[in-house]
Amino acid sequence: MSQSHFVYIKDLRAHAGKPVELRGWVYNTRSGGKIRFLILRDGSGYLQCVASAADVSAEDFETLGALTQESSVIVTGVPREDKRAPGGVELTLKSVREVQHAEGFPITPKEHSSAFLLDHRHLWLRSRKQHVVLLVRHHTIAAIRDYLNSHGFVNLDTPIFTPNACEGTSTLFETDYFGDKAYLSQSGQLYNEATAAAFGKVYCFGPTFRAEKSKTRRHLTEFWMVEPEVAFMELPELMELEEDFFCYIIGRVLETCGTEIREILERDTSKLEAVKKPFPRIHYKEAAKFLLEKGVPFEVGGDFGGTDETVLTESQTSPIFVHHFPTQIKAFYMEPDPTEPEYCLSVDMLAPEGYGEVIGGGQRTANLDLLEQRIKEHNLPRAAYEWYLDLRKYGTFPHSGFGLGVERTVAYLCGLSHLREAIPFPRMLNRLSP
Ligand code: 4AD
Ligand code: MG
Repeated sequence: MSQSHFVYIKDLRAHAGKPVELRGWVYNTRSGGKIRFLILRDGSGYLQCVASAADVSAEDFETLGALTQESSVIVTGVPREDKRAPGGVELTLKSVREVQHAEGFPITPKEHSSAFLLDHRHLWLRSRKQHVVLLVRHHTIAAIRDYLNSHGFVNLDTPIFTPNACEGTSTLFETDYFGDKAYLSQSGQLYNEATAAAFGKVYCFGPTFRAEKSKTRRHLTEFWMVEPEVAFMELPELMELEEDFFCYIIGRVLETCGTEIREILERDTSKLEAVKKPFPRIHYKEAAKFLLEKGVPFEVGGDFGGTDETVLTESQTSPIFVHHFPTQIKAFYMEPDPTEPEYCLSVDMLAPEGYGEVIGGGQRTANLDLLEQRIKEHNLPRAAYEWYLDLRKYGTFPHSGFGLGVERTVAYLCGLSHLREAIPFPRMLNRLSP
């Protein structure tokens, strides 16, 4: 069959009634007497193909009966609209050709342990649920870029090899850089502050690294973060930007994959539809009080743990902002509130349903002396931050920004219990392969 008749499953409806060719893999098969079913997947979707012994050659009918899971195939046939079929279209088969006969595909419809599935991540990606999750990831990333690009942000990516820490020295991955020490970037923020002074509104978007020694469902050692930074923006406007951005992402994902999230992932999408801005804003002091009133053994002055975040958002339908964390527990660059310097102009956005912190950000210290003092207090090597201090010497300016974790966002959108499914090949404390 000629190239021009080759189509993808997702475009099939437009070809109803016309002969087409499809290429893909066997997802499943079923036989019933003189009729054989093949669920074909081609990356763009899943399609039920039906062959009756009368319509295909005896040889092809035989081939169909012997097809195995994940064998690669080329089929021809005529698509028919059918409301009952998944995707609203079914293919009446005319021919089938096996490209390769796959024996013993390790991931079968039966239950497998998560360790087994992660060991076979390169194959697990083909399964229906993983396919939806990673499509959601794709659409999340597309929404992020579209929002920022259409709101005047300039995308300027920041280096991965860095000479200094951004988010504290305890989670730095160290590597040799031609005899010198380099660290894998924990965040592009410090560089964003430089590009923000050159372009006003900027963002970087890339992989970031944290040597997290904890095995939690919310931590990866390599994750993707988008980090917008805006010159002359202060904390209240930052929260407005964050909620508008987040609502846009949810809206876009519901529009593009809402049906799959509901039907394949069985996630209650009405919970996502219920998210509305403005999100509640709570001072850290208020949040701490709330936790104590609820009987949570929270140590006031410390950071929130997973359980604390869950309790804080329990009765919420939208994410919440917790702002003004204690200056002591936050990164060196956070601007202390001039009216209560023991608290800083930081803000975390916590997602409902126990998903916890999805965004971290705040207003940066603009004053040179104060920043120098903070670098000292954090025992950071001043020399490595000289260039960063320059930004306060030459036209310092109030500015704010945030980082949104892509995997935490995708986990929330998909209703996943662990971040490891929200990235094609997860990196964790005990996992570097495949
Ligand atoms: O709160 P974090 O550490 O903030 C920063 O890195 C700032 N410099 C960002 C900025 O203001 N430009 O990280 C931001 C977000 C978190 O809210 C979370 O979504 C995600 O990044 N994140 C992780 N995701 C997966 N695994 C980890 N280990 C993560 N650590 C942070
Ligand atoms: Mg944080």
